[in-house]
Amino acid sequence: MTEQVEIKEGLDGVYITRSTICKVDGQQGKLYYRGYKIEDLAEKSSYEEVCFLLLYGKLPNKTELEDFNKKLKGERKISENLKMLIKGFSTANTLDVLRTAMSAISYDDNQPYSADETENIEKAIRIISKTPTIAAAIGRLKQGKEIIEPDDSLGHAENFLYMLIGSKPDKEKSKLMDVMFILHAEHSSNASTFATLVACSTLADIYAGVTAGMAALKGPLHGGADEAAIRMMREIGNPENTETYIEEALAGKRKIMGFGHRVYKTYDPRARILKTYLDKIKANSGEEINNFISISLRAEKMMIEKLGKSHGIWPNVDFFSGPLYLYLGIRIELFDTVFASARTVGWCSHVIEYWKNNKLFRPLEEYIGELDLGYTPIEERT
Ligand code: SDX
Repeated sequence: MTEQVEIKEGLDGVYITRSTICKVDGQQGKLYYRGYKIEDLAEKSSYEEVCFLLLYGKLPNKTELEDFNKKLKGERKISENLKMLIKGFSTANTLDVLRTAMSAISYDDNQPYSADETENIEKAIRIISKTPTIAAAIGRLKQGKEIIEPDDSLGHAENFLYMLIGSKPDKEKSKLMDVMFILHAEHSSNASTFATLVACSTLADIYAGVTAGMAALKGPLHGGADEAAIRMMREIGNPENTETYIEEALAGKRKIMGFGHRVYKTYDPRARILKTYLDKIKANSGEEINNFISISLRAEKMMIEKLGKSHGIWPNVDFFSGPLYLYLGIRIELFDTVFASARTVGWCSHVIEYWKNNKLFRPLEEYIGELDLGYTPIEERT
């Protein structure tokens, strides 16, 4: 008799480790980084401060933040080899290029793997700093434009926008970009962070882990959802068509991208924060973005009425980000590279924490195929 095994599909409800990095309260719709409320961090801190918090486990004092900023700025530039690599693939999918470049960054580190935490934090700083430079370069080349070098007078998020757009963003846009980086920085053991941990649990280096994270982020069920959501809004076209579109999509059992979450069974607090920015950008947005804003608000209302309380399907972080990215001048094909750029700190923080007590990930699967079949030589097979 075979042993009865319980399969937890998609590891639903399975705890893989203990962590002090991030708490997602899916019932109350609350999110904390190292114990700090996401709302406070989004309003009062900066992405650099959040990176320090996630990596070191505490908020920096003034001197610590200054030193940390200096280190981040010191790592922003990318090598000529890397630029050549990116140029060689300028027509490829942007996240594929970013992922390939992440692998390549490790070639510039003569000791990619280290068991030492301080050294791994240095590697994390390199990854956090260089990724937006690469993402911006990919964006520039995609439009046939020259790569722009980082500007050390600018903060992390505003420098990213500057390298992408080619002009220094105003205060309002810099703040919004910074908030979007903060909101995407970390989210416990989501699919890409888990992929990162799986890779690093073999004691592969941190660059390999982040590369695995980027690979897992790509799909529309995870980091690709914001792109899929804005493409849906484009398909809807006129805000008046929103309800009919949603009705038909649900009747056809199609998922509405940017809604639903494995952990949140209520409103994702990050989506709530992003929603407040829709109002702020309205007056300065053109017709297309304003249409997307109207569609997103109508879709949100209808989805909550239909599936919110009854099915626990609410807007997630990917639903309102599309119109905001477009407002910042970030084109659709770059959305997931921006998500990846912000998430590097989350992936790295988890690797560094997990390595304190590393255990190889090696789950089981229940084999349900046949056994002991007789081998037929190829000449005798029909
Ligand atoms: C991110 O995990 C993280 O933390 C990720 C993330 C992060 O910061 O790292 O928060 C970022 O990835 C956000 C999620 C982005 N993905 C999407 O927006 C894609 C659309 N949403 C889904 O496909 C879905 O909600 C998932 C994949 C996100 C989670 O789904 P589960 O837990 O695997 O559940 P499921 O797909 O099995 O759905 C359960 C039921 C199904 O209905 P029934 O078959 O039971 O009748 O809910 C329905 C689904 O059809 N459902 C939806 C829906 N999402 C789930 N129905 C319509 N529209 C949706 N979006």
